[in-house]
Amino acid sequence: MTPPSSGVSAGAFDKRDNVVIFDTTMRDGEQSPGASMSHDEKLELAKILEEMGVDVIEAGFPIASNGDFEAVREIAKIVKNSTIAGLCRAHQVDIDRCAEALKGTQRGRIHVVIATSDLHMKHKLQMEPDAVIDVIARSVGHARNLRDDVEWSAEDATRSDRQFLRRAIETAIKAGATTINLPDTVGYTYPSEYADLFSWMVNNVEGADKVIFSTHCHNDLGLAVANSLAGVQGGARQIECAINGLGERAGNAALEEIVMALKVRGDKLPFETKIDTTHITRASRYVSAITGFPVQYNKAIVGKNAFAHESGIHQDGMLKNRETYEIMTPESVGQAPSSLVMGKHSGSHAFRAKLKDLGYELGQNALKEAFGRFKDLADRKKHVYDDDIIALVDDALARG
Ligand code: KIV
Ligand code: ZN
Repeated sequence: MTPPSSGVSAGAFDKRDNVVIFDTTMRDGEQSPGASMSHDEKLELAKILEEMGVDVIEAGFPIASNGDFEAVREIAKIVKNSTIAGLCRAHQVDIDRCAEALKGTQRGRIHVVIATSDLHMKHKLQMEPDAVIDVIARSVGHARNLRDDVEWSAEDATRSDRQFLRRAIETAIKAGATTINLPDTVGYTYPSEYADLFSWMVNNVEGADKVIFSTHCHNDLGLAVANSLAGVQGGARQIECAINGLGERAGNAALEEIVMALKVRGDKLPFETKIDTTHITRASRYVSAITGFPVQYNKAIVGKNAFAHESGIHQDGMLKNRETYEIMTPESVGQAPSSLVMGKHSGSHAFRAKLKDLGYELGQNALKEAFGRFKDLADRKKHVYDDDIIALVDDALARG
């Protein structure tokens, strides 16, 4: 069997390891109701993700529609530095269609999924567990005959019986899978539980050392990012995520949060990604613009307020040393420099700094007077703009 193309080994907890960043904005993200993207928008997004340094771009689900097929085919042709993945159910026809879409690239990955939880096997697939094992062997084997890079996903892995899941994973590895993904499909797991699932599989599955284990977390309980990081702690070396956390229902783990958590807290989880983080805001804004999904103001990393400070105490701290209230710089994620937002919580130090920026140097008395007027205005008005401050100071100066 050819070793995994990224050269990342499972299990080891080693500073030199990279975590593979697998972006699924165009596949799971597009499954978010109302988030569809046009062909050209997908091509543009693929270029942004490639420039950003994403390792694997899941560009679509080729059997789902001609549009998805064409998008995967074009992206596979134009992107040179990232692996392009296409999703398939464990059906020969899906796999053949995916392989066809990936023909134009040396770096194509066939991603095969089938459910392994009792609930899904009984009610959705209506198959006996032994029959699922046979399908895994056949579908992964077929995919591996077409491509060297094959990912197998155990849908609803976190609600699957552990012994059965182990058997299913061993079957996929024997059939040629190079990445094993254990999705938390319904966002049900807890960080400690997810970490334990990976460490148990890494230690108990025969052939675990030949593959990369991957996380894929949904955000139904708001735990997708925490669970993904816990998965890495347990031995996963690929994280599946999406820009702005786009994805089915409450979404997937947000790429920007995962990448910055690994970068800022390398002391806790010593793994690196290849992402150039200065491209993060551009990618976030682009995805928001093409899907029409606004980014909430207080969204971590990419929200409009992520580096804005209004309280007087915070503004005072920021003026003295920005590390008092910022754990990363806005520039490091491609955001505009931090802003001290002038509002009713602002203090006199920030007000004086703002006046200086606007070109005013007031004496003590005039400053006190202008600050009092500013506070009155801020009590009445939700947003105090630079023009409001200019008008207020000019008026105070004109009156002498
Ligand atoms: O959430 C999930 O289980 C998935 C699989 C297709 C990987 O999206
Ligand atoms: Zn998913």
